[in-house]
Amino acid sequence: MNKILVATEKPFAPAAIAQIKEIVEKEGYQLSLLEKYSSSDELKAAVADAHALIVRSDKVTADVVDAAKELKIVVRAGAGYDNLDLEACSAKGIVAMNTPGQNSNAVAELAFGMMVYQARNHFNGTAGTELRGKKLGIHAYGNVGVYVAQIAKGFGMEVYAFDPFVPADKIKADGVTPLNTVEELYSSCQYVSLHIPANEKTKKSINAQLLGKMPKDAVLVNTARKEVIDEESLVQFMEKRADFAYISDIAPDNKSVFEEKFDGRYFFTPKKMGAQTAEANINAGVAAANQIVKFFKNGDETFRVNK
Ligand code: 3PG
Repeated sequence: MNKILVATEKPFAPAAIAQIKEIVEKEGYQLSLLEKYSSSDELKAAVADAHALIVRSDKVTADVVDAAKELKIVVRAGAGYDNLDLEACSAKGIVAMNTPGQNSNAVAELAFGMMVYQARNHFNGTAGTELRGKKLGIHAYGNVGVYVAQIAKGFGMEVYAFDPFVPADKIKADGVTPLNTVEELYSSCQYVSLHIPANEKTKKSINAQLLGKMPKDAVLVNTARKEVIDEESLVQFMEKRADFAYISDIAPDNKSVFEEKFDGRYFFTPKKMGAQTAEANINAGVAAANQIVKFFKNGDETFRVNK
């Protein structure tokens, strides 16, 4: 009997677990749950006899892969798979997948929640500003970027996007203005919302040089990954630009510097919250479970991310 382990340090909503259980048990598989665990040893012990693994941002390191003696497939219920050691998976013939698009709306909504919070001075009772009429730059026009554009138009923002991998015509068809360079995006827009993945090319790529192009009262919105920010460079930049704010779904490593120096100019969620809605949990969790079923039944490898 296939054992499917759902290992989530940050648990799914109960409704998502109920649906995953139904899918898995209908196939005669066994569902096992490891939630809110605090050490990778717990994950290693739980995964030892699992045939399939569903995770969120949980770190599936080479050690974890090594401990997983029966594992055939790991599905990251979400978009970014920078938490999976793909080489280690490939070396052991384990298929790694993600579930692209399933939690994108939740992430996009959080970006606006944070933008409004910042524009209204953290709801402190003083006069803030509005989003209507402001320019928003979407840095990477993927699944989340598309939802961000839709919501931004509802707010009456002027929407721009930079994404070298998406044809300009597709961006234009959404009523968004495509820009040719990243520099143009940052110099045109008061708000920039980041939707780039964290990889060797993008890590620490957002720095003072780029942010320095942004107009007055600029706000950088990060619902992507903290790793894409050059944190040292950001701090140096914010020391010079007192009008600049950084709002991020998850705190930077140097959070204490922000607390000490940049009162009112930052907001950080305590835990990554973008995809933390019942709807996103259900979408991503159910997609992960269905992908596992299709893989075991038909060898379906749609959404595979390793070679
Ligand atoms: C993703 O990459 O899908 C998001 O960052 C969500 O991550 P989470 O599942 O840890 O909330």
